[in-house]
Amino acid sequence: MTDQKGMRRSLTRYGDEAFSLYLRKAFIKAMGYSDDALDRPVIGIANTFSAYNACHANVPALVEAVKRGVMLAGGLPMEFPTISLHESFAYPTSMYFRNLMAMDTEEMLRALPMDACVLIGGCDKTVPAQLMAAASADVPAIQLVTGPMLSGTHGTERIGACTDCRRFWGEYRGGRIDEAEINQIEGRLVPTAGTCGVMGTASTMACMTEALGMMLPGGATIPAVTADRLRCAEATGTRAMALAKEGLRPSEIMTPKAFENALRVLLAIGGSTNGVVHAAAMAGRLGIELDLEAFDALGATTPVLVDLKPTGKYYMDDLHRAGGMTAILHELKPLLNLDCMTVTGRTLGQEIDAAPLGHKQAVVRPISNPIHAGGGIAFLKGNLAGDGAIIKQSACSKELLVHTGRAVVFDSLEDLAMRIDDPGLDVAKDDVLILRNAGPKGAPGMPEAGYIPIPKKIAQQGIKDMVRISDCRMSGTAFGTIVLHATPEAAVGGPLALVESGDLIRLDVPNRRLEMDVSETELEKRRKAWTPPETLKAERGYKKLYMDHVTQAGEGADFDFLVKRPYVAKTPAG
Ligand code: FES
Repeated sequence: MTDQKGMRRSLTRYGDEAFSLYLRKAFIKAMGYSDDALDRPVIGIANTFSAYNACHANVPALVEAVKRGVMLAGGLPMEFPTISLHESFAYPTSMYFRNLMAMDTEEMLRALPMDACVLIGGCDKTVPAQLMAAASADVPAIQLVTGPMLSGTHGTERIGACTDCRRFWGEYRGGRIDEAEINQIEGRLVPTAGTCGVMGTASTMACMTEALGMMLPGGATIPAVTADRLRCAEATGTRAMALAKEGLRPSEIMTPKAFENALRVLLAIGGSTNGVVHAAAMAGRLGIELDLEAFDALGATTPVLVDLKPTGKYYMDDLHRAGGMTAILHELKPLLNLDCMTVTGRTLGQEIDAAPLGHKQAVVRPISNPIHAGGGIAFLKGNLAGDGAIIKQSACSKELLVHTGRAVVFDSLEDLAMRIDDPGLDVAKDDVLILRNAGPKGAPGMPEAGYIPIPKKIAQQGIKDMVRISDCRMSGTAFGTIVLHATPEAAVGGPLALVESGDLIRLDVPNRRLEMDVSETELEKRRKAWTPPETLKAERGYKKLYMDHVTQAGEGADFDFLVKRPYVAKTPAG
């Protein structure tokens, strides 16, 4: 950023700066702005409202509240649109566009005149995209999320997107509920605007962002449709004005130690495995490498404290009533790097000490009595995991944590859709389902297809979980014994490309192993016979950019030219 302030920043280049400012002011005055307004500090507001995005349905109200906060502090708020991504409205998958949204946001942060920016995100990919952008542009920035939806009811049951979406769909596939009921449920799963009401990816990213220090304290869990959410937006606008004056930048907040705090929180909340990919991408923008083995080791000392779906029983509105991140951070305090700077201008430790503890509650457990002793997400190695794969242990069936079974391989998402319910499919309940060519390049976009459905004929026996392995991702709202992010992916010749139906697969989570019982000689023979899939070809446009530059899951599936290399630090520090 230049030393110029407000409207004088980022002047369009005509070779005459005074002319550039004169022309800019002439045009903006057409919208009725006074000279007084145009002399104020400018706060950009990234507006991600879209008619295609119910998770962001409250953004217009949030924008108004942010503007109020900015103006109360004497600044000029300027909203601008960026790409908005919703999980169910992005073909082939929203992850394919996360980097595009990050590029859009980063370039607008650079191109438009602003002294600080409020980033309004919420749905899964939007917050990581915005923080990747903020890290790269390094403009003073503060994250605001749309907030979680409220939970609803079906009969006597509480329900909420999207863990219950999957549970009910499994029941429907298994023939235990009929078409009339599934249609009724469809109208009840998402009762309000806001992000998924469980500890899915959106909630995970919101909590991690608060721990990272890029959001106002308490901002992660306030439900979308409450007055408190609007007050949080107003306070965010006011704080953005202070950031503009102080010049505190994302690179001073998003440090290796701050990422370690965010990763601790990811583990303690039993958060989404997607949090690992997004953390790697965000850190990579600052030259910080995510060390997955050190992350696994962090798990040993980080118990799962939060009893939320998909692994527990409560919903996000319960977590908020229980104290939200305040309750979590108070419990984790001895494990956190308390000297990390936050967007408030105070350290994380100061913010924790200043936040009052709530009432007695059952959603956030004390560290002395956790839900799960540790290692919410484990990092697996072995001849089927390649450079590594991850599994959310806390979402696994205990009896499958150590399991040997016969591989049943699906070559692609299309192959899976075609054969999974075929009555003639050779599959038994102890088999291991494998989906390949569904990684960053293979699908493309590394979709959330890792929650491979239980084959109908097995589901009808009442079986709800099997070991499943893939090179793609899984929704944070899903559960089961599911190995994800096998790296390198099959489409670039990773180990999943070599496995064949009938091979014996061994998963051993306690020992962090994922193996196929195939000799190295046989694997070499298969490697020589392997050819890359046709789907990797791309002639033009975004697909070409994506295919030529997307990295593997361990590096965050960011574009190679956006990562800050060489890496200068690692997180967690270990
Ligand atoms: Fe947007 Fe779940 S679909 S948060």
